[in-house]
Amino acid sequence: MNILCIGAGYVGGPTMAMIALKCPAVKVTVVDINAARIAAWQSDTLPIYEPGLQEVVSACLGRNLFFSTDVDSAIAAADMIFVSVNTPTKTFGQGAGRAADLQYWEKTARQILANSKSDKIVVEKSTLPVRTAAAMQRILDSGGGDVKFEVLSNPEFLAEGTAIKDLQNPDRVLIGGHDTDAGRRAVAALVGVYAHWVPRERILTSNVWSSELSKLAANAFLAQRVSSINALSALCEATEADVSEVSRAIGMDSRIGAKFLNASVGFGGSCFKKDILNLVYLCETYGLTEVAAYWQQVVSMNDYQQDRFVRNMLGRMFNTVSGKRIALFGFAFKKDTGDTRESPAIRIARQLVEERAQVVIHDPKALANAKVDLRDLGDLVQYEPDPYVAAEGAHAIALMTEWDCYATLDYQRIYDRMMKPASLFDGRNRLDHAALYKLGFNVYCIGKTALSHL
Ligand code: UDX
Ligand code: ADP
Repeated sequence: MNILCIGAGYVGGPTMAMIALKCPAVKVTVVDINAARIAAWQSDTLPIYEPGLQEVVSACLGRNLFFSTDVDSAIAAADMIFVSVNTPTKTFGQGAGRAADLQYWEKTARQILANSKSDKIVVEKSTLPVRTAAAMQRILDSGGGDVKFEVLSNPEFLAEGTAIKDLQNPDRVLIGGHDTDAGRRAVAALVGVYAHWVPRERILTSNVWSSELSKLAANAFLAQRVSSINALSALCEATEADVSEVSRAIGMDSRIGAKFLNASVGFGGSCFKKDILNLVYLCETYGLTEVAAYWQQVVSMNDYQQDRFVRNMLGRMFNTVSGKRIALFGFAFKKDTGDTRESPAIRIARQLVEERAQVVIHDPKALANAKVDLRDLGDLVQYEPDPYVAAEGAHAIALMTEWDCYATLDYQRIYDRMMKPASLFDGRNRLDHAALYKLGFNVYCIGKTALSHL
């Protein structure tokens, strides 16, 4: 069997590497129009940082895992084609700022049609609006030739930073297909691929639309939990309740569960905001105004949390940060990834620069992406590979990402070289607040009473 994946990004790359690892008899090819990305996948410096990924790629590369930019020939040779191209939020025209931009996806559909001389199973891997598979099917069927296409939806649920673990041991694999003979055969073929390593009871099948909607719904539910606890964090700060204690107490209710209840500076990542906006747009399209407003609030709360963080910094620093050096510890949207898409640190860095602070950014893996995100700010932002240098002479440190390395820094050394009073804003509630306070820091956390010497 020949499997092809179009799009060698955060989803396509790791997913195909895992399929190649677990199915040695299957030939897996990954193509992309970005030649630099394809070259990087075949080098010692992969285009994305993901713990454990290099080992998986190295084990299969050249054996049954291949990377290429020759999209047309790869389509012709494939039996099953995963489509994993980017579907960002539209920036223009109708639905701008909310609907998914389907231009890359439609180009791919037409390219598959143009280069197919044998029947294909086409698998949607990108997150797409509900009913996109049906549109894909119509484009593929518009050729009028003898070649038959069967479109499946197989959303990816991996999280960055834990992608290899998630792929190796998924909570579930979801495959949506049509309830026809050809549809059932295609679903069975894809089930057969995952059954190499995923227990059969964790491979769910459904109709195509349920599968598409489940992906949006899963991300909306996860993001909603973060926004819910973040909403309560504001109330905790006002009432002297402690958000960690509240999380613990509610998380032990087995109906609620303990995961995704960490109050933070806000959620980021390429999926949560995009998928919720997509869901909102979909609801509006179907005239479901109240449903749309309900989900929109999850995104609004996330913006509020980030703005509130900066407002708090300003207030605690005597209502001015003009000319003050502020070190941002972390820029990635979460730990163990170099990805900065929708990272709260972007919005916060920009607001601090607007307030004329001297922003210095440290991150163990995301500095290159940070420079791209903030390139229009030029010299107004500094990028520093050493956290001690970043904090030297600073009035404040703000923890943006919960990288483990920040918990083990020598904060006495840092404190000694900072301006006084030295403030520490923990946007992830990950540092030892009592110890930092004892060193002399004024410590401000999310959803907890401030520990201040002032
Ligand atoms: C998410 C989904 O988890 C995954 O299933 C889907 O395939 C893609 O989108 P990802 O965006 O990679 O994955 O990371 P995730 O671990 O979900 O974190 C998203 C954001 O929420 C991060 O910024 C994280 O820091 C934040 N978060 C998460 C919190 O602020 N608090 C929490 O308790 C959990
Ligand atoms: P995701 O996080 O969903 O994986 P990425 O942006 O990381 O998204 O990856 C999507 C990849 O798809 C990019 O590397 C992009 O170059 C690639 N891509 C977009 N359009 C096409 C196309 N028509 N043919 C091949 N690759 C494409």
